[in-house]
Amino acid sequence: MIRGISASGRRATRNEKGKLLCGATEELIKYVLEKTGEPHEFISLSEKNIQPCRGCVCCAGDNRCVIEDDWAEIRDKMYEADAVVFGAPNYYGSINSLGHAFLERTFSLRHTERPKWWPTASARLSGRKNS
Ligand SMILES: Cc1cc2nc3c(=O)[nH]c(=O)nc-3n(C[C@H](O)[C@H](O)[C@H](O)COP(=O)(O)O)c2cc1C
Repeated sequence: MIRGISASGRRATRNEKGKLLCGATEELIKYVLEKTGEPHEFISLSEKNIQPCRGCVCCAGDNRCVIEDDWAEIRDKMYEADAVVFGAPNYYGSINSLGHAFLERTFSLRHTERPKWWPTASARLSGRKNS
């Protein structure tokens, strides 16, 4: 099972002619998931409550974050996955804040038992050519 996670705050939306109006991150991740040819699931963070890491390091003992939001649900799905595809839009030359909050929370996965996958590659999505 491969899980794809989009940190865009908006879902893919098309007009009546099928032209993509917004949600390029979702489109890209779904494209990659399809291309794997493996069973997969798409998750949009736009519908989740993901708070930033507080740096309390309470996760050091058991890889579990103490913040009560939707992280735990996604964490469990990531542990079950054979691979994770993560994407986020470029905001002001950097990753958007929702995506950054998500990546901060992966700090909690690194102390004891790591997932069978671990980040190995990245790509970035921008609104303009050559940016
Ligand atoms: C607040 C904000 C800041 C952005 N900053 C940049 C930027 O610095 N460079 C760029 O190329 N695109 C920028 N964009 C455009 C987005 O990266 C682009 O629209 C992307 O496709 C958004 O992904 P989404 O369609 O999945 O939401 C910005 C968009 C927003 C809303």
